Amino acid sequence: MSSVPVIAIDGPGGAGKGTIAKAVARQLGWHLLDSGALYRLVALTAMRHGVAWDDAQGLAALARNLDVRFDFDAVAGGILMSNEDVSELIRDAECSRGASFVAALPAVRGALIQRQRDFQAAPGLVADGRDMGSVVFPGAALKIFLTATIEERALRRYKQLKDKGMDANLRDLSSELEERDRRDREREIAPLKPGPDSRLLDTTGLSISDVVQTVLSWVAEAYPANP
Ligand code: C5P
Repeated sequence: MSSVPVIAIDGPGGAGKGTIAKAVARQLGWHLLDSGALYRLVALTAMRHGVAWDDAQGLAALARNLDVRFDFDAVAGGILMSNEDVSELIRDAECSRGASFVAALPAVRGALIQRQRDFQAAPGLVADGRDMGSVVFPGAALKIFLTATIEERALRRYKQLKDKGMDANLRDLSSELEERDRRDREREIAPLKPGPDSRLLDTTGLSISDVVQTVLSWVAEAYPANP
C-alpha cells in the first residue's frame, strides 16, 4: 500500500464535504478526489446513451471508459468529460438521483476503484465520498465522517442554487437529499456509515473556516511530518 498520506472525508449529501475537501487540499497543496463526480458522470453518460439504471454491465462499461479530466484550479467549472465542461450539469437533481442508482451496483463500483486509487500521489490526497475510508483508502491515517442536520444540509444546497440564480424549493431539496441518503445507507455494497476508526464532525452551525481549522489540526496529529 502506498505511503502517500490520504485524508478520507465521507458523509451524507450536502454536509459540506466538497467545500471542505477543496479548501483543505488547497491549504496543504495536496491532490483532490471528488469521487461523487465519477458516479455523477456515469449517470450523465447513461442518460445520454439511453443505458437503463439496472443494466449493470452496460453501466460498468461506461464507468470503465469515462474520458474525464479534473482541473480544480480552474476559475469556474473544472470537470471535463471528452473536453466538455460538465461541472454544472452533473450537479442537477437528475444526475444526483441517477448517481445514487448506479453507485449501488457492484460492477460500477468495481470499475471505478482503481481510477480513484490512482489519485493517491505525492505530496498527499484529500478524497471525498461515501466509502473513502471504508473501501477505497482503508489505510488512510485520517478518516473523517462529516455530517450536519438535514435542515442545515438542505438549506446549504438551497443557498448554493439561489446564488447561482437557479430555481430551488427547500422542501423538494430536503426530500431529495433524504431519499438519496437512504439509498446510500441501505445499499448492500459500501453503505454510507461512519467507520469505527473515523472521527465524527458535525458541521451544523459551524463556519467553513472553523471546520477547515479542525480538519487541519487533525491532519497535524495524523501526519505530523506533512503539513
Ligand atoms: O458526493 P456526491 O453527492 O457528489 O455523490 C453523488 C452520489 O454518488 C451519492 O449520493 C452516492 O450515491 C454516490 N457516491 C458513492 N460513493 C462515493 C461517492 C459518491 O456511492 N464514494
